[in-house]
Amino acid sequence: MDFDRVDKILKAYGMKETHLVSILLDIQTEANFLPREILSYVAKKLGIPLSQVCRFATFYKAFSLKPRGRHVIKTCLGTACHVRGAVKVLQTIERELGIRDGDTTRDFKFTLETVNCLGACALGPLVVIDNDYYGQMNTTKVPKMLKDY
Ligand code: FES
Repeated sequence: MDFDRVDKILKAYGMKETHLVSILLDIQTEANFLPREILSYVAKKLGIPLSQVCRFATFYKAFSLKPRGRHVIKTCLGTACHVRGAVKVLQTIERELGIRDGDTTRDFKFTLETVNCLGACALGPLVVIDNDYYGQMNTTKVPKMLKDY
């Protein structure tokens, strides 16, 4: 992502720090994460301390300071999913992809994350890849689910 594009996003929000979260969301949507040099640039252009920008960038789980994969896998470890075997599902995904929770595959195809509830507890154990829901997951379904991508 180049600085010209960041300037356009900043201008779209009137160069106002009150829109910082929206600005960061737009940058992440385009860059797939929040590069450090872009955060510094945003701070400078808005005339606010870098620490203030970083506070927002690290507070919200929706933001990532590391490059993310093209597909984001969210494995629910909330209570309803946990009691139905979500940990084993997560371990199988980790083993299949060779990464741990919070990591991205070397080819940047997948990023693996865990969440505490996806709001569809009746479907648990639940895994969401991008916007696709995989309910009643178990360890044997994991390889086929990943092959869909
Ligand atoms: S606990 Fe998994 S969706 Fe709610």
